[in-house]
Amino acid sequence: MLLALAAFQPLKADEGMWLPALISERIADMKAKGFKLSADDIYSINKASLKDAVVLFGSGCTGELVSDQGLLFTNHHCGYGYIQKHSSVEHDYLKDGFWAMNRSQELPNKGLSVSFLEYMEDVTSKVLKGYKPSMSERQRDSIIRVNSQRLTAAAMAKGKGLNANVEGLYYGNQYFLFVFKVFKDVRLVGAPPSSIGKFGGDTDNWMWPRHTGDFSIFRVYADKENNPAEYSEENVPYRPKKFFKISLGGVKEGDFTFVYGCPGSTKEYVTSDEVRYTAEVSDPQKIALRTQRLDIQKKYMSQNQAVRIQYSSKNASVANAWKKWQGEEKGIKKMKTVESKKAYEKRFKEWAKGNRYNGVLEKLEALYAERNPYFLAYEYYTETIRTIELLNLASNVTSHLRSFDAKNNYTESFFKDYYQPIDEEIFVAMVTSFNNNMEERFKPQYLKDALKKYGSVEEWKEYIFKNSLFTDKAKVLALTEKDLDKAKSDPAFEMFEAFYHWYNSELRPTINRLNSEIRVAYRDYMQGQMDFEKNKQFYPDANLTLRVAYGHIKGFSPADAIYYKPFSTLKGIIEKDNPDIFDYNIPQKLRDIYAEGGHEAQPVCFLATNHTTGGNSGSPVLDANGNLIGINFDRVWEGTMSDIAYDPEICRNISLDVRYVLFNIEHIGGAKYLLDEMVFVK
Ligand code: ARG
Ligand code: GLU
Repeated sequence: MLLALAAFQPLKADEGMWLPALISERIADMKAKGFKLSADDIYSINKASLKDAVVLFGSGCTGELVSDQGLLFTNHHCGYGYIQKHSSVEHDYLKDGFWAMNRSQELPNKGLSVSFLEYMEDVTSKVLKGYKPSMSERQRDSIIRVNSQRLTAAAMAKGKGLNANVEGLYYGNQYFLFVFKVFKDVRLVGAPPSSIGKFGGDTDNWMWPRHTGDFSIFRVYADKENNPAEYSEENVPYRPKKFFKISLGGVKEGDFTFVYGCPGSTKEYVTSDEVRYTAEVSDPQKIALRTQRLDIQKKYMSQNQAVRIQYSSKNASVANAWKKWQGEEKGIKKMKTVESKKAYEKRFKEWAKGNRYNGVLEKLEALYAERNPYFLAYEYYTETIRTIELLNLASNVTSHLRSFDAKNNYTESFFKDYYQPIDEEIFVAMVTSFNNNMEERFKPQYLKDALKKYGSVEEWKEYIFKNSLFTDKAKVLALTEKDLDKAKSDPAFEMFEAFYHWYNSELRPTINRLNSEIRVAYRDYMQGQMDFEKNKQFYPDANLTLRVAYGHIKGFSPADAIYYKPFSTLKGIIEKDNPDIFDYNIPQKLRDIYAEGGHEAQPVCFLATNHTTGGNSGSPVLDANGNLIGINFDRVWEGTMSDIAYDPEICRNISLDVRYVLFNIEHIGGAKYLLDEMVFVK
């Protein structure tokens, strides 16, 4: 009895990002957990299904349709760049929010597209047609490329606005064709002020309790035949095959939820060596480097309001991964993932003796041992030398001298957000760290020579910033094609080039060679894991293709004596409100509304056990009947190791309660007319 149980290893509760086309394999489990609909309701090629209301928003977020007139919800942080592009000093939509009061006020967004999945199909045998195991990897790659091109071209020829790609799953053990309809006329309809949409800022990012109103609203437009079209005044709102009804019923702990969206990247099936490298070597080193940069930025930002604005977006993006890695490192340690993977690998090796997987783990071990020092050197380079802004400017400008306008647009936007004292201090800190921590055998000769020549990193920095023309905006703007030699002999350009050349010649070839060998070995190891655990249902690692993650609403205990309830309310926003702290300074309007009374219990965010990752931002969070209850926007940092190993006790996704979106549309935006086109269920 016990033995039989041990052989059958079910997935840990609520783990998994499942392919919609294969959801029938999970539907029994979903129903057991409370789901009320059928597999066909989630994904069907014969009738409208929930998948027809979900889009890949831009190239890294998810969005969902909420009316029969193309209205779409996503996150504020997903719409951020577009809201910013429409903003100026006179109309600061980031600061004040934006609300179209009618269709003609909606704002077009060049470069923004949304992609609806038409269908997905297992094309493994078609993609591998002509391949024989005796062939080399290079031959295999080229067969895959040619077959894939044929498949995607045929699929795209079938209709207007179609796009298709073939994606490898399970490290190339399986291939799927994904066919999308891509709409390019997507207009901004509404966004709350950042003091709501980004409430809590980087202080609260990745954290619970959370009170961020992280949503923005767009509308998809089509031509008169309802087909995708470039932006045109003639276009009309797109009539989707399906849109989500909005639940007003509220949610309670234990309720079934599922997230339908496009998770970007996970590595659930890697070896203990890869996990150890990530959690014990790479994460800690990168965190330490970013702590230095963040501290330097913050020091100057707190002294000067203009600098705070200049560096707020840069600081946020440095801080986002920095905070995530800290949770990941801690979570992996707490879960003992390295140890449990090691134990698993021991059993796998035993089993593999005498079958075709014999030796695959040993091979991966040898490859990692060889690759990791090189890879660390590369990561160290990207987190140090490549973060010096002046060097990047010198390189980008020099390589774009020919396109005068492009170069000058770039230069203008560079200097708009550039504060040289920060860059100088980061130069010293990063070059010093590089010199102190880079393995001696990898150190570029250029570095050794420069240190000898200038005597110290400080003196080296002085020389570069005093003598480089790139510190002077007017001089950079004046550069033309004829100045190529001058630009190339600039000390900032020379330094960039010297390091880049070092990376290209000393690190990159080895890393590329070993990475491709590692990839090939993983194809075997992945298949081996699936053969080893015949009774386990596997899900492919995330790769920005559409997935279903299901679970339920649940709080968690991040540490001894602490329990986090899964719901936050407007009362909590008022408790955090502080006009003196930028991240917590809410709009006066919200204070006034609250003061009227009756809004204390207004729901804001909730936690659930859905297995999500970056890319799931903006994803619809649905109830057992497929109605919209929230918009996914984050995870708790204690659970960010779910990209490598999912712990049902700690891993939680954070969603915005859809009722807070409605509250904002009505009370903050004064755009109640938008509610008229939505459909509500109690
Ligand atoms: N942590 C979320 C994500 O990974 C939100 C990031 C944007 N918000 C922020 N405060 N930086 O994308
Ligand atoms: N904020 C993330 C995104 O932009 C989602 C958070 C995560 O789960 O990594 O996709």
